[in-house]
Order: sequence, then structure tokens, then C-alpha cells
Amino acid sequence: MRRIEGYVIVSADGMIADGRGEMPDAIRNDADQRFFQENLDRAAVVVHGRHSHEGGPRAAARKRLVVTRQIATLAPDPAHTQGLLWNPLGATLEEALEAIDAGDGTVAVIGGPDVFSLFLPLYDAFNLSCASRAKIPGGLPVFTEVGPNATPEDVLRSRGLHPGPRRELDAAAGVSVVTWLRA
Ligand SMILES: NC(=O)c1ccc[n+]([C@@H]2O[C@H](COP(=O)([O-])OP(=O)(O)OC[C@H]3O[C@@H](n4cnc5c(N)ncnc54)[C@H](OP(=O)(O)O)[C@@H]3O)[C@@H](O)[C@H]2O)c1
Repeated sequence: MRRIEGYVIVSADGMIADGRGEMPDAIRNDADQRFFQENLDRAAVVVHGRHSHEGGPRAAARKRLVVTRQIATLAPDPAHTQGLLWNPLGATLEEALEAIDAGDGTVAVIGGPDVFSLFLPLYDAFNLSCASRAKIPGGLPVFTEVGPNATPEDVLRSRGLHPGPRRELDAAAGVSVVTWLRA
């Protein structure tokens, strides 16, 4: 069985990074990092763009697809021994997963905005963490459609996902997660 899941932490205004493409401390949280890293440990493969590597001591052990336009289809990733460069215009997700021998299990999508948006029709679940006390005016939104007229929740609902209960990750810091599931 294969599952496609997204993982992100956003500010109260739906941003994942500032206008320079850097993730500010205001949306970094240790409890959310534990939730994120423990889920990635269980994933079959991690998928992200060039600037969205998760970091951390166990990252090198994870299989990863790095989404890029710099190659035509699929190619070994010189930067990550367990990595494969993938251009979605030249190879399907199935072809990429087969090439990296992902097997069954969770495909964990971890950003950035274009990659999160690319997978919107495919998510079985999207784990939306929120640092409710942070705002990042002029930042990078989790999905390209997020803006004055659309919240991340609006975008997920418009693609057929439904929210589960809010779980506090760090109540003192105002950080919680809601897992959105496809009906
Ligand atoms: N708060 C969070 O949970 C969270 C999560 C993820 C990222 N972030 C932050 O967000 C920022 C990353 O932003 P970013 O916009 O630079 O995102 P990114 O997805 O890491 O990198 C963008 C690159 O991905 C590739 N790409 C994206 N869409 C593609 C497509 N449809 N087809 C082929 N290649 C595609 C392109 O690579 P090429 O240039 O190689 O062609 C593009 O330059 C970082 O600061 C990161 O720390 C935060």
C-alpha cells in the first residue's frame, strides 16, 4: 500500500518562509520537529525541491526524490547518496518511485510551495502544523494559491481533503497540527 502525505509548519497567515526564502525561527519548534522527523523515519521516500531538505542526523539514511527542472527525466543526485533527481515533466511519479526502489509505504512530501502544490490532487493526508503566534508578511505561502483570498485550509478543502482533530504539539508556544484526510 502506498500513501502520499504532506508535512509542513506554517505561520498564522499560511507562510512557510520569509520573502528571501528563509525559514524564520518564529515557525521553528522542537515538538513539531520531533513530529516531523519521526514521521519521516517511517516514510518510504521523501520528496522535496532543492531548498527544502529536512536536515537532521537521520536524513542521510532516507531515500529522496529531489524535484528539479535541471535534468530531463531522472538522474542520480550527486549531493545525496540515497537521492534521485526527478523532473515531473519527464517521468511520472510511479517511474521515479520504481527507479529509487521505494517499495510500499508513505511518500512524504515536504515542500516548498511549488512541490506542495504539485501534489495537491494526490494527497491521502496533509499534516498542517501551525505556529499560531507567528506572522510572515510577504512570505512564501505553503501552496501557490494561498493569499488574501485563500487560506491553506481553503485550498485543502477545495481539493477534497477534510480536517481531523487539532492536536497540540506545544501548547505553551501555540503550535498544533491538524491532519487533513481525503474522504
Ligand atoms: N515551514 C516549512 O515547513 C517548510 C517546508 C519546506 C520548505 N520550507 C522553506 O521554504 C523555502 C523553500 O522555498 P523554495 O520555493 O525555494 O522551494 P523548493 O521547492 O525547495 O525549491 C524550488 C526548486 O524546486 C524545483 N521545482 C519546484 N517545482 C518544480 C516542478 N514543478 N518541476 C520541476 N522542478 C521544480 C526547482 O528546482 P531547480 O531550480 O533545480 O529546477 C525550484 O528551483 C526554504 O526556506 C525552506 O526552508 C519551509
